[in-house]
Amino acid sequence: MSHSPPLPPPPALRWIACANRALATPVWLQQQRAAGAKVIVSPWRLGQNDLNALDAWARQVRALQVVAAVAVPVPAAHDLPLADLDALGPLLVVLVPESADDLTHWPHLRAFLAQTRYAKLRWTSLGVPRCHADPWLPDVLLAPAQQRAMQPGCETCGARETCPRPLPQQNVTALPVAVSNQFDLTDAPPDRALLHLQAKPERHFALQQPHSAVVDEALARGQLYLDRSDKARLDDFAADLALLIPAGANAWRLADAQPFAAEESLLLGHLRTLRGVVVDVGAGPIRYVQELAQAQSAGSLRYLAVEPDLAALERTVTVLPDALCLQGTGEHLPVQTASADTVLMLRSFNHLRDVPQAMREVARVLKPGGAFLACDNVAFGLCRSPEQLARAHAIPVTETPFEHYRNADAPDAAVALHAAVPDGFRVDVLQGVGPGTSNQWFLHATRL
Ligand SMILES: C[S@@+](CC[C@H](N)C(=O)[O-])C[C@H]1O[C@@H](n2cnc3c(N)ncnc32)[C@H](O)[C@@H]1O
Repeated sequence: MSHSPPLPPPPALRWIACANRALATPVWLQQQRAAGAKVIVSPWRLGQNDLNALDAWARQVRALQVVAAVAVPVPAAHDLPLADLDALGPLLVVLVPESADDLTHWPHLRAFLAQTRYAKLRWTSLGVPRCHADPWLPDVLLAPAQQRAMQPGCETCGARETCPRPLPQQNVTALPVAVSNQFDLTDAPPDRALLHLQAKPERHFALQQPHSAVVDEALARGQLYLDRSDKARLDDFAADLALLIPAGANAWRLADAQPFAAEESLLLGHLRTLRGVVVDVGAGPIRYVQELAQAQSAGSLRYLAVEPDLAALERTVTVLPDALCLQGTGEHLPVQTASADTVLMLRSFNHLRDVPQAMREVARVLKPGGAFLACDNVAFGLCRSPEQLARAHAIPVTETPFEHYRNADAPDAAVALHAAVPDGFRVDVLQGVGPGTSNQWFLHATRL
C-alpha cells in the first residue's frame, strides 16, 4: 500500500462538462443541481437517430425543470449571451453539431467554456484525440494527449500515426471465447447423481448441463454451494448460499463457516486504507461506496471509475457523485502514466479481453510504490431444488457484451502480471481459492 500525503480538496463543483449525454440522466442532473453545479452536455457522434433520442431526452429533462436545457447549433455557441444565461440558474447546454461527422463541436465547446467565469470544471469524457486535446482542462487526471482517439474522423486523420494512443481498432484482439462461471445441479435419484450431500435428510444432485472442464475445475477447488434462499435472483451470496465442503468420494457436507465473510473482510480492510488517486477498473455499479466515500469527502482520496458499460457507469455517478467516471476498458486506461496510487480490479479481471495488455496498462498508470488490488471469482456450482431452479430460470436473461472470458484464480493472475511486466511488481498478498474458502480470490501487488 502506498502512503501519499493528503490531496488538496477537489475544487467546488460548479460546472460539469459532460461529453456523454447517456451519463447525464435526470437523476444525475438533479444531484448535480443539488450540489450547486451547472451542467454542460456535449453530445457524442450524432446521427439522425441520435438527434431524435436527444430531443426526447431534452424534453424529459426540461419537464423535470431540473435545469434549463438549451440546444445550440455549434457555430452559434460562442455567441451565447453567457451573462444572461447565467441568470437563468442551472443550465444545460447541448451543443448540436451540424452533421454526424462534424467535429467542430469540440473547438466550439472549448471556446464557449473559455468565456465562462468558471475556471474549475469536472469533465466526463469518452476520450479526445490529440488534435482536439484541451490543455485548459485544469482538473482532470487524464493526459488528453494519451487518451485514445475515438472521434469520428480519426480513421482518416493525417495525424493518426503520430497520435500517441493508437486507435482502438489497431489494438483490438480477437474476442476470446466466453466461459460460464456457474453451473446448476438439482435433486436426482442417488444412482443418477453426481454428488451426495451428507445432510438430514441426505440429498443427491445431478448436473443440469453437460459435464465440462469448468465443472471439474470448480469441484477440484471445492466450489459448490447450496441455495438456501427463496429468491429467484440471488443478491446476497453470504446470506443466500451455504458452502459445501468435500467429505469423501462424491460426498459433500455443509460447512460451518459463513461463505465469503473472511474474503470480503480481507478486501474491505484494504479498501478502507486507500488514499490518493484510486483508479477502479471495471467499477461497475460500484459496491464499496461506504469504504471510499469518507476518504473521498475528506479529500484524501480521489476516485476514478473506468468502466466500459455506460449503464453501470451511470449508477456509479449516482451513488458517488464526486467520482470522476470515465468510459474505458482495462486494456486502454484513459489515465496518465504514473498518476495512480492504487489500481483496483474488483471482479473485472476475468472479464478482460486481453489480460497482458491490461496488466501493462496497470503497470503504466501506477506510481512506483503504488498498489494493484484485484479480486475475482472462480467458477462454482449451485445445488438447487427443482422449484428454486424453475424460479431462477423464469428470469429473462439479459444479453451483456461484457462476458467472463476465464475463471482465473489468484495464482493465475499473479503469473499473468509477471509475464506481462517482468520484474514490475512484488506480490504481497496472494489468497487463492480452495476447498473451505469461498470462490473469491484476492491479490495485492506493489509496483516496483
Ligand atoms: C462482475 S462486474 C464487477 C463490478 C464491480 N467492480 C464489483 O466488484 O462489483 C465486472 C465489471 O467489469 C466490466 N468489464 C467488462 N469488460 C471489461 C474490460 N475489458 N475492462 C474493464 N472492465 C470491464 C463489466 O462491464 C462489469 O462492470
